[in-house]
Amino acid sequence: MGAKLLLPKIEVMQAKPVSASRTTITELMIPAYANFGGKIHGGILLSLMDKVAYACAAKHAGAYVVTVSVDGVNFREPVSVGELVSLLASVNYVGRTSLVVGIRVESENVITGEKKHTNTSYFTMVAKDAEGKLTEVPPLLLESEEDARRCLEAIKRKNLKAAFSDEFDNEKNRLDLTENLHLLKKERVVLQLAQQ
Ligand SMILES: CC(C)(COP(=O)(O)OP(=O)(O)OC[C@H]1O[C@@H](n2cnc3c(N)ncnc32)[C@H](O)[C@@H]1OP(=O)(O)O)[C@@H](O)C(=O)NCCC(=O)NCCS
Repeated sequence: MGAKLLLPKIEVMQAKPVSASRTTITELMIPAYANFGGKIHGGILLSLMDKVAYACAAKHAGAYVVTVSVDGVNFREPVSVGELVSLLASVNYVGRTSLVVGIRVESENVITGEKKHTNTSYFTMVAKDAEGKLTEVPPLLLESEEDARRCLEAIKRKNLKAAFSDEFDNEKNRLDLTENLHLLKKERVVLQLAQQ
């Protein structure tokens, strides 16, 4: 009889569906959130986005999560005092310890019912265990074409971001001030360098 092969015990985490962690936060925009022009501070919206990203990612991870990076924050429309802002979040992609949460921000004029899509942004979060060490997150169960499309877009975004980051680092390291000063002539700046 041959020796019994002892395989290491591999714990396979069960995939969780996107729908299980989908989260929405809705908040009325009050005067304390506004700038002097009566429009809501971008930082207020960023803070709400961070909260919904936390809740959504922690639900999927079943663990504490922290924000690592934020992509695609472009406010297309201003938000005014009195509007109702809804932040709709879902997990778009998971890596080993990281996950990407897509957040759609909409604001509604509660009197007229008019709705605006103000922005869609992507928060990358990592999961941590009780000792503060990175911990694995469950795989993502994609149940609809929309889930699959968002996941593919997240992979493309991640790859493009990595390529951009490498290229920018190269450009930055090669940047020669004297050779490139002429580029500033086309800009709306006044070059008045102090003699060194
Ligand atoms: C996030 C952090 C743990 C990454 O540390 P690291 O030494 O680069 O660790 P790793 O290389 O193992 O990366 C861990 C994961 O984060 C991802 N990650 C790291 N930097 C990233 C970035 N800038 N953008 C997107 N994902 C990133 C990695 O791809 C990896 O994902 P994976 O496990 O799914 O493959 C570390 O930078 C950190 O602790 N940052 C502070 C986060 C925090 O406290 N935020 C709260 C706001 S103050």
